[in-house]
Amino acid sequence: MGYPPALDAYRTRVEEALARVTSGCGGPAGLVAAMEWSLLAGGKRLRPVMLLATRDLFPPGGLDPMPAACALELIHTYSLIHDDLPALDNDDFRRGRPSCHKRFGEAAALLAGDALLTDAFRLVGDAWRGSDDPAGLAVVAEIAGAAGSAGMVGGQVLDTIGTGRALTADELHAVHRGKTGAMIRAAVRCGAILGHAQDDELAALTSAAERLGLAFQVVDDVLDVTASAGQLGKTPGKDREQGKTTFASLLGVDGAGRYARELSDGAIDDLRRFGPAADPLRDLADFFVTRNA
Ligand code: IPE
Ligand code: IPE
Ligand code: MG
Ligand code: MG
Ligand code: MG
Repeated sequence: MGYPPALDAYRTRVEEALARVTSGCGGPAGLVAAMEWSLLAGGKRLRPVMLLATRDLFPPGGLDPMPAACALELIHTYSLIHDDLPALDNDDFRRGRPSCHKRFGEAAALLAGDALLTDAFRLVGDAWRGSDDPAGLAVVAEIAGAAGSAGMVGGQVLDTIGTGRALTADELHAVHRGKTGAMIRAAVRCGAILGHAQDDELAALTSAAERLGLAFQVVDDVLDVTASAGQLGKTPGKDREQGKTTFASLLGVDGAGRYARELSDGAIDDLRRFGPAADPLRDLADFFVTRNA
């Protein structure tokens, strides 16, 4: 299945906003080139699109969600640049082109990642400066929490120390919850927080996002086995080569596919209370498990 048409307009708006972020960042040309190499190389833009689609479940008004959406993509891109470094997964291709360190060298790739992470917070700070909407600071805390030691970075550490060792299903869930789930959870929660969701609405959306975050990484594990480099824009077969436990290795490709579908169905169930307004998120939940890239 291709990119959900209901989400295409969001993706286009995100691309336009991202193109403006780097041109105005003010860094040295070589640094901007390395940031743009990875940031403006396509990518599914799922985290910012999820944020915007979730925000649209609620009445308009308040803070512009786009800076937070872009911040998520900047942080996600930094995580990919660092994930590909020789010290981590040592991957030569990303988003259909040589990975940042292959093109610019390791020092530049490290620093491009650092800049993307830090500029993410500059972006929201600049855009929301002077606002008295408490959602702004709540979103900053949400993003920092998801990206940091208890979230994505923590998951990457668990992934790294688990490499070459057979992980239990519980251990693998913890890896995936951190390295991938945390940022997807934050995408949905930030959209809900910016829409001033009620506590019970936020809880339902958080549950959906947690299932989707896990489903997304389960499918990433499967695609590493089943998909081609052309489809993925990155080198397949790396997990097995590196001795990583994945849901494909634990459950088999078919079992992992069934698990991902179960998770996605659970997420769609969580969205029931939001009616037709949540159709784009339902399409996204489908796409998470039917995608081939
Ligand atoms: C890849 O993320 C890394 C994981 C968290 C599994 P995506 O599959 O969202 O990568 P892009 O953004 O489309 O390149
Ligand atoms: C990466 O997980 C997650 C982050 C970048 C935080 P993977 O290592 O499985 O992602 P790919 O397969 O390289 O995209
Ligand atoms: Mg990795
Ligand atoms: Mg990797
Ligand atoms: Mg992977």
